[in-house]
Amino acid sequence: MYNSNAKTKIAIRHLSKRYDVEKKNLLFSKNIEADRIFNGNENGYVLKDVNLEIKEGEFHIFLGASGCGKSTLLNILAGFLAKSDGEVLLDGAPITKPGPERGVVFQNADSAIFPWLTVQGNVEYGLKMQGVKKEERRRIAGDAIALVGLAGHEKKHPSELSGGMKQRVQIARSIASDPKILIMDEPFGALDAQTRKILQDELINIWKKTSKTILFVTHDLQEAVYLGERISIFSAAPNANITKEVEVPFDYPRNPNKPDVSEFTREVHEHLERAINANNTNQL
Ligand SMILES: Nc1ncnc2c1ncn2[C@@H]1O[C@H](COP(=O)(O)OP(=O)(O)O)[C@@H](O)[C@H]1O
Ligand SMILES: [Mg+2]
Repeated sequence: MYNSNAKTKIAIRHLSKRYDVEKKNLLFSKNIEADRIFNGNENGYVLKDVNLEIKEGEFHIFLGASGCGKSTLLNILAGFLAKSDGEVLLDGAPITKPGPERGVVFQNADSAIFPWLTVQGNVEYGLKMQGVKKEERRRIAGDAIALVGLAGHEKKHPSELSGGMKQRVQIARSIASDPKILIMDEPFGALDAQTRKILQDELINIWKKTSKTILFVTHDLQEAVYLGERISIFSAAPNANITKEVEVPFDYPRNPNKPDVSEFTREVHEHLERAINANNTNQL
């Protein structure tokens, strides 16, 4: 359960983000940008005045409608993207770039793992970059591969794996570097319902075994209630922020069919609807 006395790990204060459209136009094709600029509101902020504290070891869910700025916030936390205003602190120090204490798992495993490397090679890759010796790499990667249930598949290439297995490779690769924080952006969004459920259960087990802090984005209400200790609910972009935080009062594993869990899910749904409608008047 969520322990309110635990140490604060991440502090987000008055965070705002507005995309620098001029600069981005130099980097991306105009066609792609036109769509994004329209949705992102050229003249305004995507995220506006986001405030949140996340405790060490917490399984934290960011829940919001598509396009509200969830990935933007995660990318700022990962250090891939600069904020426009406010503060984002990790153990009291500003986040300005990626760091080894933060491991990132993307929605699309295909663009995140290397097709020319085996499962073992992919999971060892980060360790190799850090200069970890071969024997040690083998051992750590072996443990991570076992943890995500891929033992026996070490020599396979991504083209020989299912979507769920590729996502496991990505998770194993993150875990192998032993980050304190796992940042996951809709990691199970592209998977079929059954595989998704299996990986959700595995993620809960991994979290329990490793006590990592998990920052997990989803637009799926059921997934949020199944996984999270706390759920941050976003209002809609532009000027999105976190309008509601809820603590999930159930032990793991959770049974979505139990009346108290489904009643709670219904309440979260209402919060989400209210959040989405909160700044409707600002919408494009
Ligand atoms: N590089 C970018 N340049 C301009 N606008 C962007 C860029 N990336 C995202 N946006 C806009 O910011 C908003 C939030 O995007 P995103 O964080 O990807 O939302 P989510 O992950 O919640 O679906 C969207 O309206 C999107 O179009
Ligand atoms: Mg996203």
